[in-house]
Amino acid sequence: MTQVKVLVVDDDELFRKAIRKELNKMAYSVRTAETSQKALAEVQSFPPDVVLLDIRLPDQDGLQLLPAIKDYDPSIEVIMLTAYGNIDTAVQSMQAGAYHYLVKPAKLEEMDALIQKAYEKKTLKIENRVLKEKLQYRSNHDTLVSSSRNMKELLDLVERVASTDQTVLIQGESGTGKELIARRIHRLSPRNRSPFVLVDCASLSKSLLESELFGHEKGAFTGAVGLKHGLLETAHTGTLFVDEVGSLANEMQAKFLRMLETQEYRRVGGTDTRKADVRIVAATNTELSEAVRKDQFRKDLFFRLSVIVFLIPPLRERRDDIPLLAEHFLKLTQGSVSPKRLSPRALEDLCQHQWPGNVRELRNVIERAALLSEGEIIEPWDLRMLPSTSDDLVHRLVADDHLISMQELKSRYIRLVLEKMRGHQLKAAEILGIDPKTIYRTLKGKN
Ligand SMILES: Nc1ncnc2c1ncn2[C@@H]1O[C@H](COP(=O)(O)OP(=O)(O)O)[C@@H](O)[C@H]1O
Ligand SMILES: [Mg+2]
Repeated sequence: MTQVKVLVVDDDELFRKAIRKELNKMAYSVRTAETSQKALAEVQSFPPDVVLLDIRLPDQDGLQLLPAIKDYDPSIEVIMLTAYGNIDTAVQSMQAGAYHYLVKPAKLEEMDALIQKAYEKKTLKIENRVLKEKLQYRSNHDTLVSSSRNMKELLDLVERVASTDQTVLIQGESGTGKELIARRIHRLSPRNRSPFVLVDCASLSKSLLESELFGHEKGAFTGAVGLKHGLLETAHTGTLFVDEVGSLANEMQAKFLRMLETQEYRRVGGTDTRKADVRIVAATNTELSEAVRKDQFRKDLFFRLSVIVFLIPPLRERRDDIPLLAEHFLKLTQGSVSPKRLSPRALEDLCQHQWPGNVRELRNVIERAALLSEGEIIEPWDLRMLPSTSDDLVHRLVADDHLISMQELKSRYIRLVLEKMRGHQLKAAEILGIDPKTIYRTLKGKN
């Protein structure tokens, strides 16, 4: 049976020791902390299933610590410890996300029962996928946000493949998150203590790319004034992320393939063979098999790279992710601008947009809107997305095979014009040549 892990946070040393002893007897695995700072450290290193948290602590009160614990991992259940006179606060803490409270001095059986229940709730939660995904807010930078089923399955696979040393090819449109996935593979791999190095095949000329990748000896060519270490050397024992691998010129494809096969290479102008100890993660926004068919990409290199292929769907094919991503990017802006929210209409617009630039475009739209919107709420006109022209709209309706009624079309068009007029109903009515009341009724869903 797995041992339930309990963290006891209380500044009363006698209490801590006594509880620890008793809980140990009941086969819990216990750690204690006397300040909220130490508690947070334990939350990260232990990490506990259940926290018993005193409301009053010397450095910060338990009510303030509660959200920090929940932020770190919302599945950790917190039971507040309170003195008899403080029950109001304890109840308040339940609204703030605590599981329950115990009045000190608490009976041991009661404590045991409550911890068990909290633990059951936690395990249930973990089994609940939707909640589990919210855990991914943890670190801001490389956080991958996703709730759609196809992305979720892909991420599961990423996790399993990461621990192997297999070459991976990531295919997806620009802005779908290929680099983010590559970084995750590295982070979850045994190579994660060594560097993750990116080489962008599209941005470098053929000769530059060769010396970037393999390095060059002093005097290897005009302008090679000193010795240069290649990216393969920088990435030694780590991961080399070969971005836009489809842009590799023919000659470089051959050299790259040789390096993959022999795991050796030479610096440009050098004679010594050097060991290449890197895991390769390659990315492409074009379909490489297509390039192979057109003889633009070597078949042997393609086979070598495509042992494991991740296809990242464009954002328009996983619209479930849009609200979560939007919220995530909004949260990231919070350091620089005051907190903002999306109005339901703005969110709806985001969900309907085609996103040719995928997640990157979404991120830009959100960042710009957060920066430029005046109030606390972001409205559709703050998003400044290029609204589809009517031709485009009609074209899409037909292309998508998604035929809608005249009524629906009318209602959408009215909304679109209203957006363009930044919410000004009279102006919109004038352009549409309709009564402003019709706009009003449309917005209320009565039309
Ligand atoms: N699932 C995701 N969750 C959070 N951010 C994402 C996600 N996918 C992409 N991004 C963000 O979108 C931007 C583009 O991602 P990137 O990995 O550079 O795409 P690509 O390499 O496919 O062009 C980056 O800012 C990245 O952090
Ligand atoms: Mg990229």
